[in-house]
Amino acid sequence: MKIFLDTANVQEIKRAVELGLIDGVTTNPSLLSKEGKEPVVQLKEIVKLVKGPISAEVVAKDADGMVREAIPLARLGKGIVIKVPLCEQGLVAVRRLAGQGIRTNVTLVFSSSQALLAAKAGASYVSPFVGRIDDIAGNGMALIEEIVTIFNNYLFKTEIIVASIRHPLHFVQSALIGAHIATIPFGVLEKLMRHPLTDRGIEAFNKDWEKLKSSLKK
Ligand code: G3P
Repeated sequence: MKIFLDTANVQEIKRAVELGLIDGVTTNPSLLSKEGKEPVVQLKEIVKLVKGPISAEVVAKDADGMVREAIPLARLGKGIVIKVPLCEQGLVAVRRLAGQGIRTNVTLVFSSSQALLAAKAGASYVSPFVGRIDDIAGNGMALIEEIVTIFNNYLFKTEIIVASIRHPLHFVQSALIGAHIATIPFGVLEKLMRHPLTDRGIEAFNKDWEKLKSSLKK
Protein backbone atom coordinates (compact mmCIF):
# COMPACT_ATOMS: atom_id res chain seq x y z
CA MET A 1 0.00 0.00 0.00
CA LYS A 2 1.31 3.43 -0.89
CA ILE A 3 1.29 6.10 1.81
CA PHE A 4 0.45 9.71 1.01
CA LEU A 5 0.67 12.52 3.54
CA ASP A 6 -2.57 14.51 3.89
CA THR A 7 -1.21 17.97 4.58
CA ALA A 8 -0.03 21.21 3.03
CA ASN A 9 2.48 21.82 5.83
CA VAL A 10 6.05 21.98 4.56
CA GLN A 11 7.66 21.03 7.89
CA GLU A 12 5.52 17.89 8.15
CA ILE A 13 6.31 16.97 4.54
CA LYS A 14 10.06 17.46 5.15
CA ARG A 15 9.96 15.13 8.17
CA ALA A 16 7.97 12.48 6.30
CA VAL A 17 10.27 12.68 3.26
CA GLU A 18 13.27 12.21 5.58
CA LEU A 19 11.61 9.04 6.90
CA GLY A 20 11.50 7.80 3.31
CA LEU A 21 7.95 6.54 3.73
CA ILE A 22 5.96 8.99 1.68
CA ASP A 23 4.81 8.19 -1.84
CA GLY A 24 2.81 11.37 -2.40
CA VAL A 25 0.88 14.24 -0.82
CA THR A 26 -2.77 15.26 -0.85
CA THR A 27 -3.84 18.82 -0.18
CA ASN A 28 -7.25 20.46 -0.19
CA PRO A 29 -8.49 24.06 0.18
CA SER A 30 -8.90 23.67 3.97
CA LEU A 31 -5.37 22.30 4.43
CA LEU A 32 -3.89 25.08 2.26
CA SER A 33 -5.95 27.68 4.12
CA LYS A 34 -4.41 26.49 7.44
CA GLU A 35 -0.95 27.40 6.10
CA GLY A 36 -2.06 30.99 5.39
CA LYS A 37 0.13 31.46 2.30
CA GLU A 38 -0.78 32.04 -1.31
CA PRO A 39 -1.76 28.49 -2.43
CA VAL A 40 0.40 28.44 -5.58
CA VAL A 41 3.46 29.53 -3.56
CA GLN A 42 2.76 26.76 -1.03
CA LEU A 43 2.24 24.15 -3.76
CA LYS A 44 5.52 25.17 -5.43
CA GLU A 45 7.32 24.52 -2.12
CA ILE A 46 5.69 21.08 -1.90
CA VAL A 47 6.62 20.27 -5.50
CA LYS A 48 10.28 20.90 -4.60
CA LEU A 49 10.10 18.35 -1.77
CA VAL A 50 7.99 15.48 -3.14
CA LYS A 51 8.69 13.24 -6.13
CA GLY A 52 5.36 11.41 -6.19
CA PRO A 53 1.82 12.62 -6.91
CA ILE A 54 0.68 15.86 -5.23
CA SER A 55 -3.05 16.57 -5.28
CA ALA A 56 -4.05 20.21 -5.79
CA GLU A 57 -7.77 20.96 -5.75
CA VAL A 58 -9.82 23.18 -8.05
CA VAL A 59 -12.64 25.26 -6.55
CA ALA A 60 -14.58 26.45 -9.63
CA LYS A 61 -18.24 25.42 -9.76
CA ASP A 62 -18.44 24.56 -13.46
CA ALA A 63 -16.41 22.28 -15.71
CA ASP A 64 -14.99 25.12 -17.84
CA GLY A 65 -13.77 26.91 -14.74
CA MET A 66 -12.33 23.70 -13.25
CA VAL A 67 -10.39 22.98 -16.44
CA ARG A 68 -9.19 26.61 -16.60
CA GLU A 69 -7.91 26.35 -13.00
CA ALA A 70 -6.42 22.90 -13.56
CA ILE A 71 -4.14 23.75 -16.47
CA PRO A 72 -1.80 26.21 -14.68
CA LEU A 73 -1.85 23.99 -11.57
CA ALA A 74 -0.76 20.98 -13.65
CA ARG A 75 2.14 23.07 -14.97
CA LEU A 76 3.55 23.52 -11.46
CA GLY A 77 5.20 20.11 -11.68
CA LYS A 78 5.02 16.64 -13.21
CA GLY A 79 3.66 15.24 -9.94
CA ILE A 80 0.63 17.50 -9.76
CA VAL A 81 -2.71 15.66 -9.83
CA ILE A 82 -5.85 17.77 -10.09
CA LYS A 83 -8.31 17.15 -7.29
CA VAL A 84 -11.88 17.57 -8.51
CA PRO A 85 -14.99 17.34 -6.32
CA LEU A 86 -17.52 14.64 -7.16
CA CYS A 87 -20.43 16.42 -8.84
CA GLU A 88 -21.85 16.50 -12.35
CA GLN A 89 -19.61 19.34 -13.52
CA GLY A 90 -16.64 17.69 -11.79
CA LEU A 91 -17.15 14.50 -13.79
CA VAL A 92 -17.30 16.52 -17.03
CA ALA A 93 -14.03 18.22 -16.05
CA VAL A 94 -12.41 14.86 -15.21
CA ARG A 95 -13.28 13.49 -18.64
CA ARG A 96 -11.85 16.60 -20.35
CA LEU A 97 -8.70 16.63 -18.26
CA ALA A 98 -8.12 12.92 -18.90
CA GLY A 99 -8.38 13.70 -22.62
CA GLN A 100 -5.55 16.20 -22.19
CA GLY A 101 -3.42 13.70 -20.28
CA ILE A 102 -3.93 15.47 -16.93
CA ARG A 103 -4.36 13.12 -13.98
CA THR A 104 -7.24 13.68 -11.58
CA ASN A 105 -8.15 12.68 -8.05
CA VAL A 106 -11.92 12.75 -7.57
CA THR A 107 -12.57 13.83 -4.01
CA LEU A 108 -15.49 13.95 -1.56
CA VAL A 109 -16.56 10.43 -2.54
CA PHE A 110 -19.12 9.01 -0.11
CA SER A 111 -20.69 6.12 -2.05
CA SER A 112 -19.53 3.29 -4.28
CA SER A 113 -21.77 4.51 -7.11
CA GLN A 114 -19.91 7.84 -7.05
CA ALA A 115 -16.58 6.00 -7.15
CA LEU A 116 -17.72 3.89 -10.12
CA LEU A 117 -18.83 6.99 -12.05
CA ALA A 118 -15.54 8.75 -11.33
CA ALA A 119 -13.59 5.72 -12.59
CA LYS A 120 -15.71 5.59 -15.74
CA ALA A 121 -15.12 9.32 -16.29
CA GLY A 122 -11.38 8.59 -16.38
CA ALA A 123 -10.22 9.54 -12.87
CA SER A 124 -6.71 8.41 -12.00
CA TYR A 125 -7.65 8.29 -8.31
CA VAL A 126 -10.80 8.38 -6.18
CA SER A 127 -10.80 9.61 -2.59
CA PRO A 128 -13.53 8.13 -0.37
CA PHE A 129 -13.64 9.95 3.00
CA VAL A 130 -13.88 7.25 5.66
CA GLY A 131 -13.62 9.45 8.77
CA ARG A 132 -16.45 11.73 7.73
CA ILE A 133 -18.69 8.69 7.10
CA ASP A 134 -17.85 7.32 10.56
CA ASP A 135 -18.64 10.79 11.98
CA ILE A 136 -22.28 10.36 10.97
CA ALA A 137 -22.46 6.80 12.35
CA GLY A 138 -21.81 5.17 8.97
CA ASN A 139 -19.14 2.58 8.17
CA GLY A 140 -16.35 4.21 6.17
CA MET A 141 -14.29 1.07 5.77
CA ALA A 142 -17.28 -0.89 4.41
CA LEU A 143 -17.36 1.66 1.58
CA ILE A 144 -13.70 0.94 0.82
CA GLU A 145 -14.48 -2.80 0.62
CA GLU A 146 -17.29 -2.12 -1.86
CA ILE A 147 -15.13 0.10 -4.07
CA VAL A 148 -12.25 -2.41 -4.08
CA THR A 149 -14.66 -5.16 -5.15
CA ILE A 150 -16.24 -3.04 -7.89
CA PHE A 151 -12.91 -1.84 -9.29
CA ASN A 152 -11.59 -5.43 -9.28
CA ASN A 153 -14.77 -6.71 -10.97
CA TYR A 154 -14.23 -4.40 -13.93
CA LEU A 155 -10.45 -4.09 -13.87
CA PHE A 156 -10.52 -0.30 -13.47
CA LYS A 157 -7.05 1.23 -13.33
CA THR A 158 -8.31 4.03 -11.06
CA GLU A 159 -6.53 3.86 -7.71
CA ILE A 160 -8.35 4.15 -4.41
CA ILE A 161 -6.98 6.71 -1.94
CA VAL A 162 -8.50 6.11 1.48
CA ALA A 163 -8.94 9.67 2.76
CA SER A 164 -10.18 11.36 5.92
CA ILE A 165 -8.19 8.80 7.90
CA ARG A 166 -8.40 9.67 11.58
CA HIS A 167 -6.49 6.88 13.37
CA PRO A 168 -4.14 3.89 12.89
CA LEU A 169 -7.01 1.39 12.68
CA HIS A 170 -8.29 3.09 9.50
CA PHE A 171 -4.77 2.68 8.09
CA VAL A 172 -4.47 -1.01 9.00
CA GLN A 173 -7.95 -1.78 7.69
CA SER A 174 -7.11 -0.03 4.41
CA ALA A 175 -4.13 -2.35 3.99
CA LEU A 176 -6.14 -5.46 4.94
CA ILE A 177 -8.83 -4.59 2.41
CA GLY A 178 -6.20 -3.96 -0.26
CA ALA A 179 -6.74 -0.25 -0.97
CA HIS A 180 -4.01 1.13 -3.20
CA ILE A 181 -3.21 4.18 -1.08
CA ALA A 182 -3.89 5.60 2.37
CA THR A 183 -3.50 9.35 2.78
CA ILE A 184 -2.78 10.15 6.40
CA PRO A 185 -2.32 13.23 8.56
CA PHE A 186 1.16 13.58 10.07
CA GLY A 187 -0.22 12.81 13.54
CA VAL A 188 -1.42 9.40 12.37
CA LEU A 189 1.98 8.67 10.80
CA GLU A 190 3.59 9.36 14.18
CA LYS A 191 1.12 7.06 15.94
CA LEU A 192 1.79 4.27 13.43
CA MET A 193 5.46 4.17 14.46
CA ARG A 194 4.81 3.95 18.17
CA HIS A 195 4.04 1.05 20.48
CA PRO A 196 4.28 1.17 24.29
CA LEU A 197 5.94 -2.28 24.35
CA THR A 198 8.62 -1.03 21.94
CA ASP A 199 9.31 1.98 24.22
CA ARG A 200 9.39 -0.26 27.29
CA GLY A 201 11.64 -2.75 25.49
CA ILE A 202 14.15 -0.08 24.41
CA GLU A 203 14.26 1.29 27.94
CA ALA A 204 14.88 -2.19 29.43
CA PHE A 205 17.60 -3.06 26.88
CA ASN A 206 19.37 0.25 27.56
CA LYS A 207 19.19 -0.27 31.34
CA ASP A 208 20.61 -3.82 31.09
CA TRP A 209 23.35 -2.58 28.76
CA GLU A 210 24.40 0.13 31.22
CA LYS A 211 24.29 -2.42 34.08
CA LEU A 212 26.63 -4.75 32.12
CA LYS A 213 29.04 -1.91 31.30
CA SER A 214 29.29 -0.74 34.92
CA SER A 215 29.75 -4.31 36.23
CA LEU A 216 32.59 -4.86 33.68
CA LYS A 217 34.33 -1.71 34.95
CA LYS A 218 34.51 -3.10 38.52
O1 G3P B 1 -7.96 13.93 2.20
C1 G3P B 1 -9.18 14.42 2.68
C2 G3P B 1 -9.03 14.81 4.10
O2 G3P B 1 -8.15 15.90 4.20
C3 G3P B 1 -10.28 15.10 4.81
O3 G3P B 1 -10.03 14.79 6.12
O4 G3P B 1 -10.31 14.84 8.53
O5 G3P B 1 -11.10 16.76 7.12
O6 G3P B 1 -12.31 14.61 7.08
P1 G3P B 1 -11.01 15.28 7.29
